[in-house]
Amino acid sequence: MFILGPPREGLSRRKRGQGTSPPAPPPRGEEGKLRWGARRLRVEERRNQLEVKPIGIVHNAVAGGRYTGWDEVVSEIRLAPELEEAAEGLEEFSHLIVIFWLDRAHAPDAAKIHPKDQPDLPLVGYLATRSPNRPNPLGLTVVRLLERRGNVLVVQGLDAYDGTPVLDVKPYMPAPDEGIRVPAWVGRLTGQERSGKR
Ligand SMILES: C[S@@+](CC[C@H](N)C(=O)[O-])C[C@H]1O[C@@H](n2cnc3c(N)ncnc32)[C@H](O)[C@@H]1O
Repeated sequence: MFILGPPREGLSRRKRGQGTSPPAPPPRGEEGKLRWGARRLRVEERRNQLEVKPIGIVHNAVAGGRYTGWDEVVSEIRLAPELEEAAEGLEEFSHLIVIFWLDRAHAPDAAKIHPKDQPDLPLVGYLATRSPNRPNPLGLTVVRLLERRGNVLVVQGLDAYDGTPVLDVKPYMPAPDEGIRVPAWVGRLTGQERSGKR
């Protein structure tokens, strides 16, 4: 959807390790200059203004508030009916990546926060946390797919309130172990959240 430059050429150069590729040369002649100018303008506009629209809505029993124990929550993602055909095949995957819009979040309070407002956890930049309060309130969660009923995806473990707009779903495909490293506080937090304690 968003074309940010001459894609094919750029991609192959980066793959060969030659750094960022220069823009493709403009077409020759006056007409070419005009067309090139118009094309660049459109590219800039697209960079600064991205359009997304919900493809579905979350339905579950969690209306809001501080909630732990998301692992057990079963939600329905009701996709727009016209997307039923596009969802065909998802049921062959056990897990999905769900990208959603945290519509009840607010702007970050400060550059540095305690994760989950827990003063016993270190003060870190909000981008180093999964706080819903960020410049673009996007949520991204890997969930278990229990069932697909037409345009309805029944999932477990989605940490989104009832009514949350869903922007995209993708099948989760495991990658080989990439040596993932996280700070120690993440282990403490994950333990609490999984168990529903705190
Ligand atoms: C910390 S966010 C993280 C979401 C996702 N796992 C991620 O890492 O991007 C999840 C929390 O956001 C809050 N939340 C859920 N739905 C929301 C919504 N629609 N608007 C604002 N906050 C929401 C809940 O408190 C939930 O525990």
